[in-house]
Amino acid sequence: MNLADLPSLRELLPALPAAFRGADTLDPRGKVVLITGAGAGIGRALAEDMSARGASVAVLDIDGSAATATANTLGENAFAIPADVADRAAMREAVARVHARFGRIDVVVANAGVVPEPATIATMDPAEFDRVVAVNLVGVFNTVHPALPHVIDAGGHVVVVSSAAAFAPGMAGSPYMTTKAAVEQFGRALRVELAAVGATAGVAYFGIVDTAMTHGTLDDDELGRAVGRLLPWPLNRRITAREAAASVAEGIVRRAPRTIAPAQWEPYALLRGAINVVLDDRLTRDPAVREVIHRVEARVRAARAADQPREHGSQRARG
Ligand SMILES: NC(=O)c1ccc[n+]([C@@H]2O[C@H](COP(=O)([O-])OP(=O)(O)OC[C@H]3O[C@@H](n4cnc5c(N)ncnc54)[C@H](O)[C@@H]3O)[C@@H](O)[C@H]2O)c1
Repeated sequence: MNLADLPSLRELLPALPAAFRGADTLDPRGKVVLITGAGAGIGRALAEDMSARGASVAVLDIDGSAATATANTLGENAFAIPADVADRAAMREAVARVHARFGRIDVVVANAGVVPEPATIATMDPAEFDRVVAVNLVGVFNTVHPALPHVIDAGGHVVVVSSAAAFAPGMAGSPYMTTKAAVEQFGRALRVELAAVGATAGVAYFGIVDTAMTHGTLDDDELGRAVGRLLPWPLNRRITAREAAASVAEGIVRRAPRTIAPAQWEPYALLRGAINVVLDDRLTRDPAVREVIHRVEARVRAARAADQPREHGSQRARG
């Protein structure tokens, strides 16, 4: 492709509604849907939603008892699979089990995700960076890759769960923002590639959803609350897991290239290029942001200093 092939603004604007609508529709009745991270939060709500729409659901979660609890509420067309999305061999086997059980896989939702302990890049434990990348990015590949032959056979649909964090500022939680931006690109590439073989893919974005993840990052942590206060209205609006799941479920039916919930994030998502130039500049100057960064760094360093005597002590004990 060369630059001359890019659409002009005059071509772009009338094409927008069709681009949002996506391709033809997908009726969930009788279809098989694999959802990762479906033992809790948005994944669980999506499992309930897709089951209510008539799909059979494979409920995959690292927390086996949570997966079983979700599957039990859905009845006999649901199947619990304990597996860690970061474990490539386990995911290959999990996908094979879903196919053996139902004979097909129409839809895959790579939803499992984790957040890092708050830290700046300078103060971050490298193992924490690797853990988030292993689940949020490599885990998406491990979920989607083995399922693709089945999804293509079925002319199905893949959803990868990104976040508004893919394009919003990323201080003090960079592995999360980095992986969500990568997942967005993964989903865009996948959509173009699958179009050539008769299947579809989309990226799901959420703002703030009322789940355990949000409680752990924004509510239960004093610094998380300070970060939350930096979010301006209407971006600080919270939706329920059920509302987030409904946006994904409707996106699956529409084979939508992207879903964003709540809708208040849509203008920012569309205009992000220009907005982020200004926003990033502002954030580097904002005293409130600097203060939060200093507090995060001070807390990480204090926790590390408090741990060190214990580590030395236990090394001495082992030695
Ligand atoms: N909650 C939000 O505000 C929000 C906003 C934007 C995007 N998201 C994204 O939506 C997705 C779901 O988030 P949520 O709020 O429901 O989270 P949650 O923490 O409430 O639930 C996540 C589920 O994933 C499971 N999980 C975690 N690591 C796993 C692994 N390695 N393998 C398999 N399962 C694993 C957990 O056991 C849990 O059941 C995540 O990808 C998250 O990044 C959430």
